[in-house]
Amino acid sequence: MIIIKTKQEIEKMREAGKLLASVHRKIADMIRPGITTYEIDQFVEEYLEKHGATAEQKGYMGYKYATCASINDEICHGFPRKEPLKNGDIVGIDMVVNLEGWLADSAWTYGVGDISQEAQKLLDVTKKALYLGIEQAIVGNRIGDISHAIQSYVESKGFSVVRDFVGHGIGKNIHEDPQVPHFGRPGRGPRLMDGMVLTIEPMINVGGHGCTIDDNGWTARTIDGKLSAQYEHTLAITKDGPMILTDQDSLE
Ligand code: MF3
Ligand code: CO
Repeated sequence: MIIIKTKQEIEKMREAGKLLASVHRKIADMIRPGITTYEIDQFVEEYLEKHGATAEQKGYMGYKYATCASINDEICHGFPRKEPLKNGDIVGIDMVVNLEGWLADSAWTYGVGDISQEAQKLLDVTKKALYLGIEQAIVGNRIGDISHAIQSYVESKGFSVVRDFVGHGIGKNIHEDPQVPHFGRPGRGPRLMDGMVLTIEPMINVGGHGCTIDDNGWTARTIDGKLSAQYEHTLAITKDGPMILTDQDSLE
């Protein structure tokens, strides 16, 4: 069942989203060779609490951290750890903010120091894929229009779309209907309506789309060991077009 949100509810999610966007801005300033994802995770938890919010991922289905930190061939659900980031790594930081009961979800991938040309292309293509998906998030379109825009662009650049993890509705719960695959056929799936709030969060691989789960039961990584990246926004579908609730560019 898709839960439609009122304007007031979307406004509350926008506040959660602004806080989340400001956290990503801070992380961008912290990222450098030698920092650990454990330090970043602790920073995020404290920063959110200082701002009257909580990290929704902590305790979600037994997950232990405020953030997911997925390095290089890790696709998603990497654990924050005390091993320092190295020059040339890429690291995706994903988190869900709970502000007064309303959630926002956003992941961003950061290059550490100087990254390879291939890694930079992966980040550029993945971010552009997210925004091409968002462009399709308009009243009257269908979920499949978002999926198709992302898949066709990504594959035209020679990369592949992860199948095992998808975007989702979000509100008072992290995962609501509908599912938002980042691959699929145009004109298929649920119709987009005013007041729906979704995440779009393509995970894109340099090599094949296959993934395997680590022994920790959480961390997904590429089978071929090649790089994977992810960008994610939470957005509302409105009559005036998509409203990105976790937008970093609109922060002053
Ligand atoms: N932020 C993730 C998503 O996009 C949720 C991660 S689940 C967790 O759906 F348990 F790791 F937090
Ligand atoms: Co999500």
